[in-house]
Amino acid sequence: MQEDLILFGPPGAGKGTQGALLAERYGLLRLSTGDVLRDAVQRGTQLGLEAQRFMNAGELVPDSVILGIVRDHLSGAAAQRGVIFDGFPRTLPQAQGLDGLLVQLGRRLRAVLVLDVDDDTIVKRLSGRRSCPTCGAVYNVYFEPPRQQGRCDACGAELTQRPDDAADTIRRRLQVYHAQTAPLLDYYDAASVVVHRVDGERSIEEVQADLAPLLLP
Ligand code: AP5
Repeated sequence: MQEDLILFGPPGAGKGTQGALLAERYGLLRLSTGDVLRDAVQRGTQLGLEAQRFMNAGELVPDSVILGIVRDHLSGAAAQRGVIFDGFPRTLPQAQGLDGLLVQLGRRLRAVLVLDVDDDTIVKRLSGRRSCPTCGAVYNVYFEPPRQQGRCDACGAELTQRPDDAADTIRRRLQVYHAQTAPLLDYYDAASVVVHRVDGERSIEEVQADLAPLLLP
């Protein structure tokens, strides 16, 4: 039976950074609902138009929209080797919807990997994040600066800041996380899903060294 993982934690905990490394290492699909939504916003699709106002305000996109995205990706060929969910589920209806999809598709949840990071660190990480609009590389002006200020090391493009990384929006995203998403850990505990907690305050390499062995068969 196909086994999937959830990478869990507050905004800026390092889910995208760690998920990309794990996906490459183990040949898994990283399904970031945030990335799918940002791509839709950039392309100006109906989904993007619908999602943009929620994202820019730091609010959650409606559950039905998110579950539709996940259903589409889970049915695709790329999901056959296993999926790392990044930024999903974020609400109880999403977690329950995922359970239903996994049963329908003959898959199971192997574990929830939690990155524990303090709110003060989150604010610094998100306010310092810069991304390359051309190749997708992610930097941080405080922790992982590019060699040339404001320019991507890989392709030289001018780096941009996510609209939802503005100070007010970061605070709202954290409130939403604590109110709606963090309680899902109780849901998984009650369902006897394995929950591994990792100290996400350390360097990218140290966190990766803790996570990677958890994915071994
Ligand atoms: P999403 O894109 O999922 O954003 P998020 O969960 O807020 O997470 P981030 O991408 O901001 O952070 P991350 O944990 O991936 O950290 P990263 O590795 O980038 O969602 C955005 C929006 O879309 C939501 O607000 C919502 O509107 C909508 N949405 C998405 N999914 C949804 C869902 N399921 N339901 C409803 N709405 C949904 O790292 C952050 C920074 O820190 C980077 O600069 C990085 O270089 C740096 N960094 C990472 N690790 C370390 C480290 N160990 N030490 C130092 N710096 C580090």
